[in-house]
Amino acid sequence: MSRIEAPRSEDAVVTSDLTDRLLAGLPAEAVLTDPDVTAAYANDMASFCPAGTPAVVVLPRTVEHVQHVMRTATELRVPVVPQGARSGLSGAANATDGCIVLSLTKMDRILEISPVDRIAVVEPGVINAALSRAVEEHGLYYPPDPSSWEMCTIGGNIGTGSGGLCCVKYGVTAEYVLGLDVVLADGRLMSTGRRTAKGVAGYDLTRLFVGSEGSLGIVVRAVLALKPKPPQQLVLAAEFPSAAAACDAVCRIMEGGHLPSLLELMDRTTVKAVNDLAHMGLPETTEALLLAAFDTPDPAADLAAVGALCEAAGATEVVPAEDAAESELLLKARRLSLTALEAVKGTTMIDDVCVPRSQLGAMLEGVERIAAKYGLTIGVCAHAGDGNTHPTVCFDAQDEAESRRARESFDEIMALGLELGGTITGEHGVGVLKKEWLAREIGPVGVEMQRAVKHAFDPLGILNPGKVL
Ligand code: LAC
Ligand code: ZN
Repeated sequence: MSRIEAPRSEDAVVTSDLTDRLLAGLPAEAVLTDPDVTAAYANDMASFCPAGTPAVVVLPRTVEHVQHVMRTATELRVPVVPQGARSGLSGAANATDGCIVLSLTKMDRILEISPVDRIAVVEPGVINAALSRAVEEHGLYYPPDPSSWEMCTIGGNIGTGSGGLCCVKYGVTAEYVLGLDVVLADGRLMSTGRRTAKGVAGYDLTRLFVGSEGSLGIVVRAVLALKPKPPQQLVLAAEFPSAAAACDAVCRIMEGGHLPSLLELMDRTTVKAVNDLAHMGLPETTEALLLAAFDTPDPAADLAAVGALCEAAGATEVVPAEDAAESELLLKARRLSLTALEAVKGTTMIDDVCVPRSQLGAMLEGVERIAAKYGLTIGVCAHAGDGNTHPTVCFDAQDEAESRRARESFDEIMALGLELGGTITGEHGVGVLKKEWLAREIGPVGVEMQRAVKHAFDPLGILNPGKVL
């Protein structure tokens, strides 16, 4: 229980100096030092990612508070780990030893919603679902919808460049971030981007910050683009005798020019896991279940067209949801997939390989081969319309040999993704989980230029060190 031992006297002096300096510009309730409390801020939701012990957790409420934290960190050369809801899956929000955890969760105000400009201006701690509901009251729609949308924050979504279920039609977080206010490593405040519909003044630093995992600066305000609220979507479930047939259907749907608002795949293992966890009554005899949805004026007609394509690809059963409630239930099943897979053997390693959607079939076939080679259960759910797969290795963490095989298979899945022209991460980010793999994807010149960018923003290396690069 090393974390509740009294710190060595030298650490105590350093920590108390740091705490005193932080308290000079922050209210007492915004500075947490009780090790039992701060320990709760050590991790995000990724397995197998090292995490250290924070020296202190700060919960700023204003931009000035964040500036004070960064000035203090720069003066004392203390690392800062920014955090949202810690629902991330790559360890990007994990603490490092002696760091300041900078939790943005208390900066949770929606500052503006403008139906004319079709934008929202928000603080980073706003929960994704809270924003979605607030803009809906104005007849607007904020599309990015990670499965964790009920708990994850907009700041975290920006940090990880998160995706979700609706991306196949509406795109990912990056496409909705128009401008940012960012506190830099030394405490200066920088504004990027715009609140206009267009704007090309200078380098696109806004986009650079999306997916930067808190390694370049602290996002304290965001201008987000909104869409008019579409009609309620209607979902269809199609059962397939093989994953290959389901992937063929995905290709036919995309080739046919359709624009579903969702196109998701769950393999047999995932379907069974969801049934075991939540007794949803999904069909377990099929090898793959495809969920397609349309939020068009006549979703039933669009679903009929897509249903016909599914049948042409070999679907044994095509069942449109009767109403919005049934549609919601199917989405709920999909959103539960990864939690359900975790219950299979207690631990999972969730991969996030995205391939060109024309390669989806080859990817799933390869994952099956890898599962057989290592004697492991690997359930797959996928944002099939994006080619973004989550092969999820289920294993017993107490079993050392099995854990090793899990790690090896996880790596082999990424290698396969790269071979197929894909990326090691479609939406979860690099964090600490995939650091070694970034270089394999972008090459030495890419790494060198990324390091140069990092150095320009963070010359002392205090912003989320050990993440991404
Ligand atoms: C999902 C998250 C894990 O697709 O990305 O459910
Ligand atoms: Zn996902």
